[in-house]
Amino acid sequence: MFVGIDLGTSGLKAVLVDEMQRVIASHTYPLHVSSPHAGWNEQAPQDWWTALLAAMDALAASHPREMAVVRGIGLSGQQHGAVLLGEGGRVLRPCILWNDMRAVAQCTQFERRFPEFRQVCGNMAMPGFTAPKLIWVAEHEPGVFRATRHVLLPKAWLRYRMTGDMIEDMSDASGSLWLDVGRRCWSDGALAATGLERNAMPSLVEGTAQAGALHADLARRWGMKVRPVLAGGAGDNAAGAVGLGAVTPGSSFLSLGTSGVLWITTECFRPHPQGGIHAFCHAVPDMWHQMGVTLSAASSLAWWARTTGMTEAALLAELPDRIMQPSPAIFLPYLSGERTPHNDGRIRGAFAGLSHNTTRAQMTQAVLEGVAFSFRDVVDALAVAGSVVKKADVIGGGSNSRTWVSILASITGLSLHRLAHGEQGGAFGAARLARLAVTGEPVESVCLPQAREETLAPDPGLASAYAAPLARYRALYPAMRAAMETSPR
Ligand code: XUL
Repeated sequence: MFVGIDLGTSGLKAVLVDEMQRVIASHTYPLHVSSPHAGWNEQAPQDWWTALLAAMDALAASHPREMAVVRGIGLSGQQHGAVLLGEGGRVLRPCILWNDMRAVAQCTQFERRFPEFRQVCGNMAMPGFTAPKLIWVAEHEPGVFRATRHVLLPKAWLRYRMTGDMIEDMSDASGSLWLDVGRRCWSDGALAATGLERNAMPSLVEGTAQAGALHADLARRWGMKVRPVLAGGAGDNAAGAVGLGAVTPGSSFLSLGTSGVLWITTECFRPHPQGGIHAFCHAVPDMWHQMGVTLSAASSLAWWARTTGMTEAALLAELPDRIMQPSPAIFLPYLSGERTPHNDGRIRGAFAGLSHNTTRAQMTQAVLEGVAFSFRDVVDALAVAGSVVKKADVIGGGSNSRTWVSILASITGLSLHRLAHGEQGGAFGAARLARLAVTGEPVESVCLPQAREETLAPDPGLASAYAAPLARYRALYPAMRAAMETSPR
């Protein structure tokens, strides 16, 4: 029996997976994001711990016999957050999250201080990543910076609480911008550019390796007969890939979650930072990946639902079953800036092309299309980076909408597979990593693909009808950027 724990942004989920890889129980505990200033996003690590205890206590209460025989625990987590620890492992300030945009100026400083950075770390510096956040802290909270002894990513902090060990896996470490991604070790040059040294970093393991054992008192609390081993685990996207079986070169998925991700597994480190493509380690040994990220995917529809006072389901129900033509309105989904391809933390979203006749349904359709246009930008940026994606599994909350997935297919040109049994996100992949860490089985024999329910291919008529709106969408970005230059922040 194995447990997978996914520390998401809106909730922490724990799943119990049996030896046949069946998910037999799952508990989710909600999490709140605080935004003390526009563009800032923080969470208190203690809230993650409360959520983890609640989710695991619930599994222990509902499935005591199964929890008694858990052999391994895997962790998956939201990437890039900075948990700063002082003497004795004390948390010094709330975690600055992956979608926090305060460190825009610090990205330029970081790249200037370490000119080889892009080729070593495989990325452009982006404000969501961890390293620029530390430069921000050094400038704006010098006392906190001076007191910092260790920096951990979110799930590494959970492991620290669960085992007492400071250990990180390669996939999540890649998103810190302190990793030499090709060599799979910390980069002294990148660390020095933020005033840090290796002793502030956790030790590194592969996601499939053993990385600590659960504290005895927690094992007792959850009725476990032996102290389970923890696996190295993975950043949430790499854990999702493991859960989908995307562990061989060329396998890809598209995630329509809070943020949107298009992922492709690569057999080697293939940096191509121009165009905002991320090149990171995979969570399985000797494998890497490229991905592009659109920051507000399903969260764009959630914003539109909040704004209109409707539920997302009610908004989607106003759309025709089959979209026959593009919306006359255009939506730019840059609600919290954009990563791929623009790397622009200051840009914000917009509706364009509205008239007295524009309906709410047309605006909802424009929101779905705007997110799909941003994915089209990602598909094209990946192609320039050497990865031509033609098909992908589609996951994340937005994939429940057949309408949205079919719009995505026609706009991106991808054939998209909807999964037969839904998906458990990073938590299931984390449980697979736990199994690999305990049993040492070959990766391919455990990380099998998921059953697919249907494939939605691009509709050629609709695809050509989208050519003109796509061109308008692309023309609006530079116009909006110019407008933002003169607007108050
Ligand atoms: C990936 C990224 C997001 C978070 C969300 O680079 O920032 O997908 O990991 O949890």
